[in-house]
Amino acid sequence: MTTTSTTPSLDIFDEIEALKREQDATILAHYYQNGEIQELADFTGDSLKLARAATTVSTGTIVFCGVHFMAETAKILNPEKRVLLPDPLAGCSLADSCPAPLLKRRQEALRAEGRRFQTVAYINSTASVKALSDWIVTSGNAEEIIRRVPEEFEILFVPDRHLGSYLEEVTGRTMILWEGSCMVHEVFSVNDLLRMKRRKPDAKTVAHPECPANIREHADFIGGTEAMIRFVDRFASPTEFLVATEANMLWQLQHAVPRHTYLPVPGITCACNNCPHMARNTLEKLRDCLKNGAPEIRWRPEFDRAAESLRRSFFE
Ligand code: 13P
Ligand code: SF4
Repeated sequence: MTTTSTTPSLDIFDEIEALKREQDATILAHYYQNGEIQELADFTGDSLKLARAATTVSTGTIVFCGVHFMAETAKILNPEKRVLLPDPLAGCSLADSCPAPLLKRRQEALRAEGRRFQTVAYINSTASVKALSDWIVTSGNAEEIIRRVPEEFEILFVPDRHLGSYLEEVTGRTMILWEGSCMVHEVFSVNDLLRMKRRKPDAKTVAHPECPANIREHADFIGGTEAMIRFVDRFASPTEFLVATEANMLWQLQHAVPRHTYLPVPGITCACNNCPHMARNTLEKLRDCLKNGAPEIRWRPEFDRAAESLRRSFFE
């Protein structure tokens, strides 16, 4: 029987720890989860680190505190594990912007024109899209993988047009870009960023490559979340950083490299830039999914083809 509780418990941390042992579970949490969840997790990381960590866990169950495509990727790479996602509706609007039937139609149209191309999908995509793709990239390995695509092929890059245009800049390869974007990174306010930079001329700006070019062009460093931690750690003395990515990343930066000060770059419509999909996971839902052994990511037929593309990209 499924049990849920909405009563906040003072010792919910202890409860989760006990359930984790009882259920033989490992908790993985993305850097965009709230700080309490990151604190409880056995592993925190960016998409690439978590996908790799999922393949090394020794427990029978993985609880994935992140969004659906991340939990799905953990299952695809570990078919024998039980993979739980605290809220099954924790989706990703970027992934949703590229439905597999539309991608298939685009690929057929390009083939009909006689174009020779390979499809590169950002990991922020559904398993059905991964199954239609030759390569899968994350913000952490995208450059390296684009360089592995043979020159005789054009590249169809899906679904994030900003990451795609950034990759065009750094690799010199032109791409056919899908029109998707991340609702969090799309809305940083360039005016507010410039105002902050004027007020704090010594501060360094770090931006995720999912940001549009008008934000990236003002950044001292562009990189995924794991690369951001490595970048700030290079500064030995206390420094101020203006951070253009999802707001929970500031918790992780503060935790990992506490000598610095981190300030969020505000968005146009919302000063916080929290991802509403990531925010669906809460401590209560994490506890309840351990109690109930659900919601679980179940194997689906398209996972077989998606597994081939993921393994070729991440492990060969
Ligand atoms: P990374 O942490 O891999 O950079 O991913 C960012 C992101 O948007 C995840 O949804
Ligand atoms: Fe998707 Fe953007 Fe949220 Fe990441 S931050 S899960 S890309 S909507």
